[in-house]
Amino acid sequence: MKILAIETSCDETAIAIVEASGIEKDSRFRVLGNALISQIEIHQAYGGVFPSLAKREHAKNLVPILEAALEEAELLHEDTQAISEEMRANISEMLAREPGLSEAFFEFISECEPPEIDAIAVTAGPGLEPALWVGINFAKALALVWDKPLVAVNHMEGHILAALAQPEAPSTKLETSNKSQIEKLEIKNIEMPVLALLISGGHTELVLMRKWLQYELIGQTRDDAVGEAFDKVARMLSLPYPGGPEISRLAEEVRGFTKSAESKVGHVGHNVGHAMSDIVLPRPMLNDATCDFSFSGLKTAVLYLLKKNPEIIEHKKQHMAHEFENAVTEVLWKKTARALEEAGARTLVLGGGVSANTHIRRTFTKNMSEEYSNVTLRIPSASLSTDNAIMIALAGFYRALRNNVSASDSIVANGNLSLAL
Ligand code: KG4
Ligand code: ZN
Repeated sequence: MKILAIETSCDETAIAIVEASGIEKDSRFRVLGNALISQIEIHQAYGGVFPSLAKREHAKNLVPILEAALEEAELLHEDTQAISEEMRANISEMLAREPGLSEAFFEFISECEPPEIDAIAVTAGPGLEPALWVGINFAKALALVWDKPLVAVNHMEGHILAALAQPEAPSTKLETSNKSQIEKLEIKNIEMPVLALLISGGHTELVLMRKWLQYELIGQTRDDAVGEAFDKVARMLSLPYPGGPEISRLAEEVRGFTKSAESKVGHVGHNVGHAMSDIVLPRPMLNDATCDFSFSGLKTAVLYLLKKNPEIIEHKKQHMAHEFENAVTEVLWKKTARALEEAGARTLVLGGGVSANTHIRRTFTKNMSEEYSNVTLRIPSASLSTDNAIMIALAGFYRALRNNVSASDSIVANGNLSLAL
């Protein structure tokens, strides 16, 4: 089954075309086309994602990336298509809220053959509703004009499945390049229950899957999401948006893992060449008896320390970044370990943008092998960790396997869409 997947929940406009086969516990994916435009530079001036700007950019980007993804998948065949007046009127109405989109849509659609795809998957939530709507309306218009079924996808399910997916074992030695890692994926030999630590700009939650696609919420943040905390602390340190990668870069300098010292990665715990700092931050809720998190106090602690000691920004920025990253990682690890034990999980996955963080990945890898060597850890490659449309195609396939095909009218954007029923 060939799935065209559309992701517009936040600040990435992404479309992927993925050929999927198999069953839930044993599935295979070939990424035929994958196009993504990040809006990061546009939102940087605002220090965060600005919803109406995100919506406008998605509307501008969707047709060009659709074309790019179809072209890469070799599914773009030029041909003049007649579009009836009635169809034109329906689609114009669907796209009326995105200025300029219907013009670009008709121009493109009237000049290409309907591609050989079997379904269209689109993120319905969670995310920024104005941004989600652009993708949903675009998906509805494509489904109508090409007469394809529509599948609504939960973005977080996409993160979980992307984390469970592994590069398919290369059949020949020639296939071990980076490119093949993303082109062929498989989900198999997954031992249940699966515990997922989902960490992104909008989410921090521990979700348990005992049976395929059935979720229980084990713990969640009571205030800020961890990515939000990274972004806000970065802003306090006058670092650009998104703050996660910036904080990580500074903290790695203190650990002695700078880009120029990449060969040192693996020697966990070395503090090379820097005096230890006296900056100490709290580890909120570290020892309480739940699997919940809280990051707003940690963010406030950074704020107070900076107010009291403004020289930190000049001279000890990297030490603040280091201590902040340590505090976050310690809390994430301890709560995850608690949840692993309580649930008797056999597989742990990390998902969401923050799981691209080098220190978090390194710490979880080390601690899992030392303390839970009987539990399999799966962390997606960095490009599958942050938002993309491949993960939406994976979730779309799993939903299509269950015949969760949606009537066009029934798909609505839901900013707070939850995984657990
Ligand atoms: O999943 P994602 O791409 O979008 C959402 O659905 O929110 O996550 C974005 C978040 C941002 O807060 C960003 O700062 C954070 O992920 N992030 C990181 C890193 N890369 C992205 N946080 C820490 N370290 C990183 N390397
Ligand atoms: Zn995400």
